[in-house]
Amino acid sequence: MTLKKPVRKAVFPVAGLGTRFLPATKSVPKEMLTVLDKPVIQYVVDEARAAGIEHFIFVTGRNKAVIEDHFDLQYELQDTLEKRGKTAGLETLSRYQPEAGTTSFTRQQAPLGLGHAVWCARDIVGDEPFALLLPDMVMKDPKGCLSGMMELYGETGGNVVSTEEVAWEETHKYGVVEKGDAAGAGFEIRGMVEKPEPGTAPSNLFINGRYILQPEIFDILERQGPGAGNEIQLTDGMLNLASEQPFYGYVFEGETFDCGSKAGFIRANIAFAMDDDEVASEVREEMARHLG
Ligand code: G1P
Repeated sequence: MTLKKPVRKAVFPVAGLGTRFLPATKSVPKEMLTVLDKPVIQYVVDEARAAGIEHFIFVTGRNKAVIEDHFDLQYELQDTLEKRGKTAGLETLSRYQPEAGTTSFTRQQAPLGLGHAVWCARDIVGDEPFALLLPDMVMKDPKGCLSGMMELYGETGGNVVSTEEVAWEETHKYGVVEKGDAAGAGFEIRGMVEKPEPGTAPSNLFINGRYILQPEIFDILERQGPGAGNEIQLTDGMLNLASEQPFYGYVFEGETFDCGSKAGFIRANIAFAMDDDEVASEVREEMARHLG
């Protein structure tokens, strides 16, 4: 069993309520809040496309229809821009326009946990490996986190999760892996635990929201009961899968911004603004004014 089929599809769980950003997220999904000039979800979809993903699967929920609109053709806007000769705007629209038939949307009907959200995509994914990207985590890295994971997957096959170091006091907020022997550019995973009690984490390598998983995860999630926080946890399902299939860790060395938190969201805006010629100097001056 080589488990090295190509990874063509990516799943984006976007059903979360975004309560940390109320009132902004009362009618706007948190994934549509903008970092500089793109919604958060666009960064994650771009990362997936750059890694060779061909089909984009969104697990949405009530109040999230605008995400589907964002990835659709906006005919009236396009027509108006054409009539007015606004070529820059037209180019921007076309650059981010997914090809017809390459997006799918399904709903997680109740907030039962990340494992349950992933399971909701089972029919659309079918019997092939898939990537999973958590949109709260926006990455900044010249290579792209998922592209780096794809390289490792090319060597090892199996299942791959991306990890990075975090302060030991923060480990209780995340899924944490136990590191085994080196494997290619990554390492074998010996164990995983979701939100370990303070002082009990097996390492300070946390799962940062990027996964390549084999389809056997779906049967496991279907049978699985609730775990930490009384939710169906993906990490518990992966631990189970790791007893049957190889599981590897990828070490991400770029920058990660948790855009599910206010501070992470602001840090992302600053970091991306610094790369933007149009606004960088003005933003730098403003920051200096506050720091001075
Ligand atoms: C989820 C995962 C966790 C992972 C984290 C990354 O947790 O369950 O393993 O480390 O995302 O952001 P959540 O943020 O939904 O609590």
